[in-house]
Amino acid sequence: MWESIWVNAHIATMVGNGDYGIIENGAIAVAKGKIVWIGRHNDLPEHDAQTIHDVKGKWITPGLIDCHSHMVFGGSRAGEFEQRLKGASYEEIARAGGGIISTVKATREASSETLYKAAEKRLVALMKEGVTGVEIKSGYGLDLANEAKMLKVATRLSEEHNIRIQRTFLGAHALPPEYQNNPDGYIDEICAETLPTLAEMGLVDAVDAFCENIGFTPAQTERVFAKAKELSLPVKIHAEQLSDQQGAALCAKYHGLSADHLEHLTEDGIRAMARGGTAAVLLPGAYYFLRETKKPPLDLLRQYAIPMAIATDLNPGSSPAHSLLLMLNMACTLFHMTPEEALSGVTKHAAAALGWRDCGRLKKGYRADFAIWDIEQPADLAYRFGCNPCTSVVRDGVEHAV
Ligand code: NIG
Ligand code: FE
Repeated sequence: MWESIWVNAHIATMVGNGDYGIIENGAIAVAKGKIVWIGRHNDLPEHDAQTIHDVKGKWITPGLIDCHSHMVFGGSRAGEFEQRLKGASYEEIARAGGGIISTVKATREASSETLYKAAEKRLVALMKEGVTGVEIKSGYGLDLANEAKMLKVATRLSEEHNIRIQRTFLGAHALPPEYQNNPDGYIDEICAETLPTLAEMGLVDAVDAFCENIGFTPAQTERVFAKAKELSLPVKIHAEQLSDQQGAALCAKYHGLSADHLEHLTEDGIRAMARGGTAAVLLPGAYYFLRETKKPPLDLLRQYAIPMAIATDLNPGSSPAHSLLLMLNMACTLFHMTPEEALSGVTKHAAAALGWRDCGRLKKGYRADFAIWDIEQPADLAYRFGCNPCTSVVRDGVEHAV
């Protein structure tokens, strides 16, 4: 039995390679939150759908997925933005005790309710642009109580909003003040206590680490990954953002879901990612906002057919970006992606980067999560910037205005 059907739509299914998988004059039928039929309107069989939605020639794409965000945080780093404009670098600010650590202080001081209200605004901004799935990292608490506080806020966001959320533990994001000069001691605490306890509390879906000269070494990162593996949690990594630490290859060794940033990634790293089945997540907002000049190796990633996702990296320090659509435009202008690659990057490849196998494409059996757009062609989503053509989203088969 069909429950609802959307007719009179042009559909970018994102099935297949390189052409958006377009169905012109198409229809999508839904039952129990899943797509039960999709195809050309002319081929529509007799049906008993109770609700018929006339899309009136608009476009439908899979619901967008923001697969890398740090949207739960306290405070603001607008002051650091000003410092950077006067010449200080992101690394200098971090080494001087600002950067991530200043957000840790503000996040520890904030109540759950304050964190929730602030994160909710950020989430709603994304959802208005057709986002139906996001990833949210911890990593500004850096102790058991505060990491739990952040992950509970992420859990509550998924309960109170019509959105699918992956919660990622990023305890190895920065060194907390209690462990100054003792990073190995902090990694001991993560492995012996913080991560197993949070996993036991059911608050963790995946594990991330910031492998960088201002973050953690590959050896320290690997200890966290080994613990994640023991707990059967998938891993991902912030790698090769500011320097080449061969973090992507390390993550691939653990068959990580994704390696993210990747400006300094080498061909060896890409080969390892291909072997490990690890997706690339490119973050044009951070590249832009930190005024980086070294681009991720797009041609090599293409050559090895690595799925390339795009995300906001929404965070207060390196990417206060509240628009996933803007990231599509930036991925094209800054990284020379095609509009089709960019849209793949926030749909099917973002789903791959989260290990979500039933969304990111529009196809029979997949979740009925899609966005409806007032555009003339799918490339408009990357071509236009600063406007929002999303008119509604369908999530689990139910349409909501944005
Ligand atoms: O993805 N690189 C580490 N983490 C974030 C930045 C976090 C921050 O500056 O607060 C990132 O860029
Ligand atoms: Fe990040």
